[in-house]
Amino acid sequence: MKRMLSGIKPTGQLHLGNYIGALRHFVEYQDEYEMYAFIANLHCITVPQDPEELHKNLRDCVALYLACGLDPSKATIFLQTDVRAHAQLGYICCCHTYMGELNRMTQFKDKQSKGEKNLSGGLYTYPALMAADILLYDADYVPVGEDQKQHVELTRDIAERMNNRYGDLFVVPEPLIAKVGARIMSLSDPTKKMSKSDETNKGCIYLLDPLKTARKKVMSAVTDSYAKVHFDPETQPGISNLMQILSSLSDNRPLGDIEAEFEGKGYGDFKRAVADAVCTKLEEIQTRYNEIIESGLVEKTLQEGAAKASILADAKLAKVQKAIGMEIIR
Ligand code: TYM
Repeated sequence: MKRMLSGIKPTGQLHLGNYIGALRHFVEYQDEYEMYAFIANLHCITVPQDPEELHKNLRDCVALYLACGLDPSKATIFLQTDVRAHAQLGYICCCHTYMGELNRMTQFKDKQSKGEKNLSGGLYTYPALMAADILLYDADYVPVGEDQKQHVELTRDIAERMNNRYGDLFVVPEPLIAKVGARIMSLSDPTKKMSKSDETNKGCIYLLDPLKTARKKVMSAVTDSYAKVHFDPETQPGISNLMQILSSLSDNRPLGDIEAEFEGKGYGDFKRAVADAVCTKLEEIQTRYNEIIESGLVEKTLQEGAAKASILADAKLAKVQKAIGMEIIR
């Protein structure tokens, strides 16, 4: 069985972009692949966090993994810091990554270009840690949204470099990026990605948003004056974004079907259909989340997940350290 690994960094609450671009695929793939899904809490602290809020976000993230349908009897679900090998291999990967490569990473460059002050060293070297997350498990595939493609490509380069230098250490992973929904845009500015750091809070639908709030956000989404439900992200980014959301939440319904259904109808009808699909999904997720969050399942899942993940990760780290010549007593 091929292996798959992915993670989410809960620097804030999980949102619809995380669900559509990543989490729903983890759920889809858990039957077909050996699935490792983790919570990237080391990556979280590359930007300042309030400890109480971070702790809540982490628990919510695990509960949401489960509420969205990840099944701990099929998928290994764990917290990054519960498997110490991540930080150790992260450092080793960092020593095999060139500064020129890190300088090219668009996520860091974006933050830098916004003039954000006091960016941390951790944020800069983060792609090397992400490479370690993946390489520790010999993952064949990494299901991610489009914004993570560059990081997975760097992971491939690091893996190939280390394989060439030390012999076959790692499986070289491939990113898995869906055709529809890999880049969900902000509802208030469809030229920008939907993201946790949305300042207005109008463009991002959180999975735990009250249904009324979510509906309102969809109904006030920015559209255009073409008055035509048509898929063309260049000229109609807002409508195309809503179409991708609707398609992703209704069993990947073809975009052409959606165009046909709303031909001659107004944007009001179309937005109502999108809002209905969003609210139905959120309600389903939130009902399960409420059952899970205080049930003890979060802790149990993480305990079992960490034990299972550590077996693979510790063995890989030992193999890497030995190959590099860093060990004496093991
Ligand atoms: P993060 O936490 O920013 O996002 C988690 C996943 O959600 C996807 N995503 C989106 N997809 C579609 N539309 C959007 N608007 C949108 N926003 C986010 C992301 O592409 C991602 O798949 N570095 C990673 C976390 C990570 C990781 C890993 C992932 C750390 N180690 C190893 C895979 C493998 C991150 O910050 O994702």
